[in-house]
Amino acid sequence: MSVTPPGPIGDPLFGNGRQFADDPFSFMRACADSYGDVVRFDLGPRETYLLTNPADIERVLVADAEQYRKPQFGDDAMDTLLGDGLLMSEGETWQRQRKLANPSFHNRRIGALDETMVGHTESQLADWNDGDVVDIQLEVARLTVKIIVSAMFGADITDEEVKTVQEKLEPLGARFEPDPRRFLIPNWVPTRENREFDAAIDTLESVIDGIVDRRRGTERDPSVDPAGPEGVAVRGPAGDGDGDLPMDLLSVLLRARDRDEQTDENLRDELVTMLLAGHDTTALALTYTFYLLSNHPEARERVASEAEAAVDGGRAADESTTADGGPSASDVRDMEFTERVLNESMRLYPPVYTLFREPKLDVKLGGYRIPEGSALMLSQWVVHRSPRWYDDPETFDPSRWTPERRSQRPRFAYFPFGGGPRHCIGKAFSLLEAKLILAKVCSQYDLEYEGPDLSLRGSLTMHPDHPVPMRIRER
Ligand code: HEM
Repeated sequence: MSVTPPGPIGDPLFGNGRQFADDPFSFMRACADSYGDVVRFDLGPRETYLLTNPADIERVLVADAEQYRKPQFGDDAMDTLLGDGLLMSEGETWQRQRKLANPSFHNRRIGALDETMVGHTESQLADWNDGDVVDIQLEVARLTVKIIVSAMFGADITDEEVKTVQEKLEPLGARFEPDPRRFLIPNWVPTRENREFDAAIDTLESVIDGIVDRRRGTERDPSVDPAGPEGVAVRGPAGDGDGDLPMDLLSVLLRARDRDEQTDENLRDELVTMLLAGHDTTALALTYTFYLLSNHPEARERVASEAEAAVDGGRAADESTTADGGPSASDVRDMEFTERVLNESMRLYPPVYTLFREPKLDVKLGGYRIPEGSALMLSQWVVHRSPRWYDDPETFDPSRWTPERRSQRPRFAYFPFGGGPRHCIGKAFSLLEAKLILAKVCSQYDLEYEGPDLSLRGSLTMHPDHPVPMRIRER
């Protein structure tokens, strides 16, 4: 067994940190192209290993998942932001929080959130006028914030609060952009970036506190669950008692707090995690989808005709469901081509472009020994664009997603939602939300991209590095 995987030579101070920070996307792909399935490099003080073979990724995420944990980076910005929320917690805390959250994400409850999702979309589209130009990324993020707060916190959020959340995402995101100098400057040094990061967290927490204050005392009132009687009928976690209890996540957590199974800090960590993880990723998936559809008018036409059928189906089936009569969760289930477009969009532009793990003991991967405590990067960006798994990988081609072609690829040649025990809890939620929003928008409008060539920025998620202006054309 060879001892150390190959990799690029770095400089003595920053390792490969500067190359990574300059362009993480090109750097990771060049590493995989030049050195193979397991590549070693140094990001600051950390030995880092890039894994791009689906078989190795499956072992880390699924088969040997208990041998790995989410890494503790020397700097604790992630901990300050997300604390012990679902995304970053480990061990018993993670198990308890995931068990508590599961009923809120039960399929039956998610399916019954369609009216809420459509209602918010309709309100937002009421502001759109033929010929206007909107920044589609900001527009969809505004919408997905409102939807996650309604659907999972059983509350409304004011336009002012949405604006505050959106403004604060910039300094929060900036803190997680790769920057090798950060390893040299401790967190407590009051750089402008650190001050803005701390201030953004304070503001985000005050928005969350406002929502919790509005909801306190209503955690047993079934009328607060926007999923209605179907959502309420989902069984709660053990200890939650019988009967018609609202199953939105905030009600579930407040009841757990009443039973002393949650601290105020647990509650805060979970709500910040859900607010951020539950809106930014779906907004990005939709942004990239609208961008791709604008560049591929034939695909846009096919999505539009599926969208029209779904909206018309809703109207015919039930005039009273929403202001416009639909679509419902079952109407969008038939939007097969649209689903392929979404898959292809998340292949080319995975909102989460790499996962991180840390082995709890020395492990063997791809024939190499990887030491305990190193950082592993499992990169969707690299695997999803590999010619080993995708012919002509740079080309947008929704026909890759027919069941036959899908079955020819290894399971982890595509993993936008991760996999194994830590897979995304919001997958079904975000797919329903994305399809309903696409159905509403594409049945009424064609969006034409008017910005520069897309360039990308890596932070916690993969963002366009500039506004995404779209001209709205009524169909
Ligand atoms: C297109 C949309 C989305 C994408 C691409 C996405 C992607 C992911 C990925 C890759 C992970 C695994 C992270 C890891 O293994 O380290 C994850 C976990 C998670 N996601 Fe999502 N996500 C999306 C939507 C959502 C939504 C809508 C919610 C909440 C409503 C959500 C909440 C979470 C949470 C709480 C976790 C942590 C789960 C755990 O560790 O138990 N995500 N997501």
